[in-house]
Formats: sequence, C-alpha cells, structure tokens
Amino acid sequence: MNKNSPIGIFDSGVGGSSIWQEIHQLMPNENTVYLADSKNAPYGNKTQDEIVSLSIKNTEVLINMGCKIIVVACNTATTNAIEILRSTFDIPIIGIEPAIKPAALQTKYKSIGILATKGTLSSALFHKTAKEFTKEVSVVEIIGEGLVPLIENDELETNEMKMLLKKYTAPMVAANIDYLVLGCSHYPYLIPQLHKILPTHVSIIDSGQAVAKQTQSVMQQHGLLNESDKKGTLQFYTNTKVDTLKSLLKKYSEIITVEKMDF
Ligand code: DGL
Repeated sequence: MNKNSPIGIFDSGVGGSSIWQEIHQLMPNENTVYLADSKNAPYGNKTQDEIVSLSIKNTEVLINMGCKIIVVACNTATTNAIEILRSTFDIPIIGIEPAIKPAALQTKYKSIGILATKGTLSSALFHKTAKEFTKEVSVVEIIGEGLVPLIENDELETNEMKMLLKKYTAPMVAANIDYLVLGCSHYPYLIPQLHKILPTHVSIIDSGQAVAKQTQSVMQQHGLLNESDKKGTLQFYTNTKVDTLKSLLKKYSEIITVEKMDF
C-alpha cells in the first residue's frame, strides 16, 4: 500500500456513488475502487449484526485489492458498524453520518427534517449526534422505506417514487421545516425531484462534500495523497447488474469502468 494505491469506497449499492462524485471532484488524480453491494441492498432494514458482517466483508475485499483508505459511503453501515471496522482493520476508515449539525446550526425556523433508513435512525450513533445538536430544534425523522430499491432499479422519476417522496415530505412540510437532511447516500439522486415537491424556502443538505474533505485531510495526515499529475483510474464493481451504476454515472462514462464481480 502506497500513495498510488486506490481509495476504496463501498455502499450497500449504487448510492455511495454520489459520495464518490464528491471525492473524484476534489481529488481527480486519485485512483478509486468502488464496491456496490447491491445484492444485499437495502441494508436499512437489516439487523446491526448483519450490517456489521456485510461491512467487514466489503472492507476485506477493498483491502485485498490494495486500497490505502476505506470510505464507508453508507450512513447505515457507518452508524451501525464504523467502531467495529476501526477496531478490526489497521487502515484509516472514513464514515458518513447525516448532516444534522449544520442543519441544526443554520435553521431559522428551528425545524428540520431528516430522511434516512430505519437502520440509521435507530442506531445509537445517530441518537447521540441528534441529542447533542438538536436541543433547541424540532426534528421530524422519517424512514425512507422503499426509496433505495427504486433507486437501485434506476427508477428516479417514476410515479411510485413521486408518491413516496410526497408522502414522506408531507409531515416535514406540515412542521414548517427549512432544512431537509438527506441521511442516506442514495438520496442525493432524488434532489431534483425533492425540489419540485418542497416549498422553495427549504434547503436540502447532504454530507457528500464534508466526507470528501475529511477523506482528503486524513490522507494528508497519513502521507497518503497521490502526488501523480495524471488522472486517476476509476473502477466500479457491482455484484448485480451494471446498468444502474452506468446510468447514474453516465457523465463519467468515458473515464470509468463498471464491471460485475462476485463478492
Ligand atoms: N446508502 C445507504 C445509506 O447511506 C444505505 C441504504 C440501504 O441500503 O438501505 O444509508
């Protein structure tokens, strides 16, 4: 493992590619390997033990591929497994958590909404962060049941998706939120649809940029930043069909490879 080794990124499926986009934009010369564990998606309804063992499996695959750092591009895996991953593997591991803190600090209406999976909203780590930062803010937590399978199937704009988004945001609109936190790495792909539904004063925030910056800063601390002036090699692997990843990442089609692999 050295500076030229890839950054390893995994998610329960295609969603973490929204985080990959931020990482690639910030550090275009880094090599990256992305694992979409779509065969086991959604993680959001699994038990903590199941989420931990899938996260360990994905991390092992990325370490065996020679990755220098692991980015857990999944809120559900981070909030349920990051401590165990960090104590199991001797490699820097970055996680992603819902951006409750910036929303709670910036809300003028003192009312924010959080859309995330059941696994994230029921985790101890999420409760700890929410308790710490939302003492004077009212929080509407909604489980985005059914959204991940539709995104995995590249159904971003179907009627079913529109109905679900309307249903899940209705209690937030009723509570007069001015910030919506996207607590699942799949959901940034829904931002255009959410903007059509939500009142114009609602800002939508996710953690993608913060995770990319944190990854860069940890790599810098460990002397792991790639100093090459060439563009990185960008590999994507999925254990189901390649179509959805290809479709979500079509603007990168000339520079990425997307392959099916069993893991
Ligand atoms: N993309 C994931 C997250 O950030 C998990 C979604 C799921 O598999 O349920 O939470």
